[in-house]
Amino acid sequence: MEWNQRYAVDEYIYGTEPNAFLVEHAAMLTGPVLSLAEGEGRNAVFLASLGLQVHGVDGSEVGLAKAQALARSRGLEIQTEVADLGVFEPETNFYGSVISISAHLPSAIRKQLYPRVERGLKPGGIILLEAYSADQLPRDTGGPKEPDMLMTRAKIENEFPNFEPVLLRELEREVCEGSYHTGLASVVQFIGRKKA
Ligand SMILES: C[S@@+](CC[C@H](N)C(=O)[O-])C[C@H]1O[C@@H](n2cnc3c(N)ncnc32)[C@H](O)[C@@H]1O
Repeated sequence: MEWNQRYAVDEYIYGTEPNAFLVEHAAMLTGPVLSLAEGEGRNAVFLASLGLQVHGVDGSEVGLAKAQALARSRGLEIQTEVADLGVFEPETNFYGSVISISAHLPSAIRKQLYPRVERGLKPGGIILLEAYSADQLPRDTGGPKEPDMLMTRAKIENEFPNFEPVLLRELEREVCEGSYHTGLASVVQFIGRKKA
């Protein structure tokens, strides 16, 4: 798998510091937290350091082994699960929050996953998502090169119809999150509350 190869280095390629948008809004989150495409653990470990129970899911066992090593190095515990998000079924009505940080997926997978994520959240539960936007395509500061995997406000509105938007914006920001995500970038940020 391509991601296992990318992660098979000592360096944490997205760094060990959490995503800036997550840090800014972490106080809104309640546990348990499901982290989609957790990768090497920087966000899960940050949330665990706040006392939240975290379940990080990713297709890369190499990434998640690094996530567990990062948690151990900080004396924290996180739960990790190797799974393909195209078929992953979160427990129903279980999570207080879901995070999706740079979890770029083809629309065919998002179509399957997001309704399941919605079922996995308790009523009133929060999703917090940051992804590169369609405007990121010409830049070389990170993100996939397939337009289908890049997000827009309109895609968010269509794909999360049963969430009340707390925040939904497209903006440019300086990203400094490891060697693959560095420089001025166009992103979409979304916080939605599952309607009761
Ligand atoms: C850009 S990395 C982001 C990692 C992490 N969220 C972060 O911000 O540091 C994208 C992650 O998506 C995972 N991924 C991609 N497609 C996946 C799929 N179909 N199922 C599970 N994980 C997937 C990769 O293994 C990789 O860890």
